[in-house]
Amino acid sequence: MPSPAELKRLAAKHGTPLFVVDHDEIRRRYALFRRSLPRVQAYYAVKANPDPAIVKTLYTEGASFDVASFPEFMIVHDNIRALPAKRRQQWIWDKIIYANPIKDKHTLERLNRYKPLVTYDNLTEVEKIRRHAPHAGLILRVSVPNTGSVVELSSKFGASPGEAVDLIEAAFRAGLVVEGISFHVGSQCTNFHNYVQALEVAHGLFQEAHSRGHPQVNILDIGGGFPAPYDAHMRPFEDLARTLNAEFDRLFPPETEIVAEPGRFLVATAGTLVAEVIGKAVRGGKRGYYLNDGIYGTFSGVLFDHIPYRLKSFRRGKPEICAVFGPTCDALDTISVAERLPELELGDLVYSENIGAYSHASSTWFNGFPPAKVHHLHR
Ligand SMILES: Cc1ncc(COP(=O)(O)O)c(C=O)c1O
Repeated sequence: MPSPAELKRLAAKHGTPLFVVDHDEIRRRYALFRRSLPRVQAYYAVKANPDPAIVKTLYTEGASFDVASFPEFMIVHDNIRALPAKRRQQWIWDKIIYANPIKDKHTLERLNRYKPLVTYDNLTEVEKIRRHAPHAGLILRVSVPNTGSVVELSSKFGASPGEAVDLIEAAFRAGLVVEGISFHVGSQCTNFHNYVQALEVAHGLFQEAHSRGHPQVNILDIGGGFPAPYDAHMRPFEDLARTLNAEFDRLFPPETEIVAEPGRFLVATAGTLVAEVIGKAVRGGKRGYYLNDGIYGTFSGVLFDHIPYRLKSFRRGKPEICAVFGPTCDALDTISVAERLPELELGDLVYSENIGAYSHASSTWFNGFPPAKVHHLHR
């Protein structure tokens, strides 16, 4: 990750707000994931940060991809455009999963020619896929406990385990092929027990599907949720990996294809934001600083992703509690009401580390402020 001196130099050269992406860190995280979970094929969840340069780096490293919209599919597809048609199709089969259980019919029609793997979790979707993308392979998404995960997903997606095998049979009856089962334990999952419970559920469903005559169900997709080390108290990833590997070997024979969709795990620590103090006032009895990036920009993750990014100063001094706001006219644009920073002056720079996931990806142009410029290191 870039040193404070390097961040300062880059900000002086390129201006602020500046979102710095360290591609060496992405490579390190991908290697750690692969090394720690040798049975698992890693599909990068593009939504975490869809920057084409990031997708390219992971493509070059040999990663697979989880896409959740047609534009995301095309960002990945750009990397294989030049391959001969047959190899391109093989690559899509092997390396892309369209992991959004709900797809509009136009998206399905555009996807159909690529015959991708897609997830589903209800009967309406079975019928829609049958009509608009009959060449797709299916993965049933089931709902599992998301207890204690920072971002909860099970209230929106996933068939209940009780209806799962009926939904698999319904898809086969519709002439489709169900190839596997997926789940998501919730994003930034620090409760490793969620995975253990979800693997038990998936194991039971595999057995039931096989006993009802569907041996084609052979892909286990354990979703995302792998936590990023936002603070020093996080349990090491290796602990989670050890648990997962033991459960894989206990519950799933070697011929089961195990895949995962890590998003934030691969990119969170690769992004650093540098912003500038553009205003200063006293608010609520404490100093308030206004930055040229905020909740409608790179700090959108504070709101959407529930991550309280810490701000650091290049200036030394005694830290005091202060508020930090973004540049727009909306009071919602409040990055923190209790940050610890030394007294800052106009033009000072501050930075936030570990801000690579679900941040720049959800930046807007609200109020006319463009998203932060992106600078790539070690591309
Ligand atoms: C279906 C699916 N897969 C993977 C991910 C990536 O999750 P994470 O960033 O927690 O790894 C998400 C995130 O929302 C998702 O919805």
